[in-house]
Amino acid sequence: MSRLIVVSNRVSAPKDPAAGSAGGLAMALSAALRKYDGLWFGWSGETVEHFTGELKTEDRAGVTVATVDLEPQDVDEYYNGYANKTLWPLFHHRIDLTAYERSYGEGYERTNRRFAEVLQPLLQPDDVIWIHDYHMIPMARDLRRLGVKNRIGFFLHTPWPARQLLVTLPHHRRLVKSMFHFDLLGFQTREWMELFQRYVEVEAKGVVRPGGRVEAFDRSVQLGVFPIGIDVDGFLAARDSLLGQKTYDRIAASAAFRSMIVGVDRLDYSKGLEQRLLGYEQFLEDNPSMRGDVFLLQVTPISRDDVDTYQDIRARLDALAGRINGAYADMDWQPIRYLNRTFRRDQLAGIYRAARVGLVTPLRDGMNLVAKEYVAAQDPEDPGVLILSRFAGAAEQMGEALLVNPFSREELSDAIRKALTMPLEERIRKWKALMQVVRDTDVAHWRDQFVRALLAES
Ligand code: G6P
Repeated sequence: MSRLIVVSNRVSAPKDPAAGSAGGLAMALSAALRKYDGLWFGWSGETVEHFTGELKTEDRAGVTVATVDLEPQDVDEYYNGYANKTLWPLFHHRIDLTAYERSYGEGYERTNRRFAEVLQPLLQPDDVIWIHDYHMIPMARDLRRLGVKNRIGFFLHTPWPARQLLVTLPHHRRLVKSMFHFDLLGFQTREWMELFQRYVEVEAKGVVRPGGRVEAFDRSVQLGVFPIGIDVDGFLAARDSLLGQKTYDRIAASAAFRSMIVGVDRLDYSKGLEQRLLGYEQFLEDNPSMRGDVFLLQVTPISRDDVDTYQDIRARLDALAGRINGAYADMDWQPIRYLNRTFRRDQLAGIYRAARVGLVTPLRDGMNLVAKEYVAAQDPEDPGVLILSRFAGAAEQMGEALLVNPFSREELSDAIRKALTMPLEERIRKWKALMQVVRDTDVAHWRDQFVRALLAES
């Protein structure tokens, strides 16, 4: 088939796939791309004083990667600004944290234009272009202005927000209108897609056709739901690797027969980390006899640290973890092991396998691949239990998890107790159902379904 050109802000195909850290877009794309002839294009993560558009091309683990450097002003206004201070909080329903700065919007438009101008000369007529995530919403419009006629699809890794919140964004119509230059718009869940449809009907006076086509702004675009998955076999191989097994053994030894609960999340306010720690504290409070027999390993790599809201949440979590440990720890037991670092993929797989409970409780999340990785890593004969927020995209597929409302401390506390005391038979039954979903909708399935739907568009 034709080449697949993947475009995303963050391009990080690890040289050694086992070395990649936590889930998310970059890991999924590198797994998805390894089997395709094509190119992965995006920001290098580096800055240069004046934008040149010069491409750096390299082969990483069988994937050709082409990146450009951005100017510091682009990084401030486009990445830290519009992407991470405006769209990210807005799409996660945190309008209290959303910055509405005109200069951010201008930097976002400028940087998207730059990406389009650098990509356009690389394109061949039958290339299929697949653009990812909220950083690059207007890019199809910019490519069309440069005369690009290729199929262009878009996949949103985050939630799409409710219309009532989206309209707080100045120029929201302009942003949504630009999406009608794609041939296909993909969402993680039916819920996010329906919110998009509702916006089109109400704000753009558009029409939603049966079968998922929407018409507005004198154009039309096909919509679809494509839940992202993980590279199951790659993850199992990582779990069973020497380092995966060593990590498992190391944890088992240090746990000294205590049950481990695990959480792995970027340090982000959308992940519900404060609520999670408070829920765990409630559990300790409600179940004095279980204290000392359990501990929480919370792995939380620092993320987007140039943005003040991220610095704030970091400080609050430091204080909260410290307070809970100070209040409950004993001379030979600490309730929370809180780590601001990343682990290799094979180590993470070993960690998940050693955990009796996986605690995945975001307040709002596009999908959440940690939930799927946790399930994949379990021992089929003695699996752990997944506690999953009903507000994660993954909940639409993973109804056999213990679904919780992460805003309620008491509900979190009850779920932790239930997970820790669940009989083996029930754990196995739930795990089998969840593992089936994880296998059936793996990352290759996601990629193939999307590309097939994009090719079907004319
Ligand atoms: C989320 C976004 C991705 C992003 C990732 C890490 O998963 O949907 O687009 O790459 O977070 O964030 P960062 O800002 O470090 O790329």
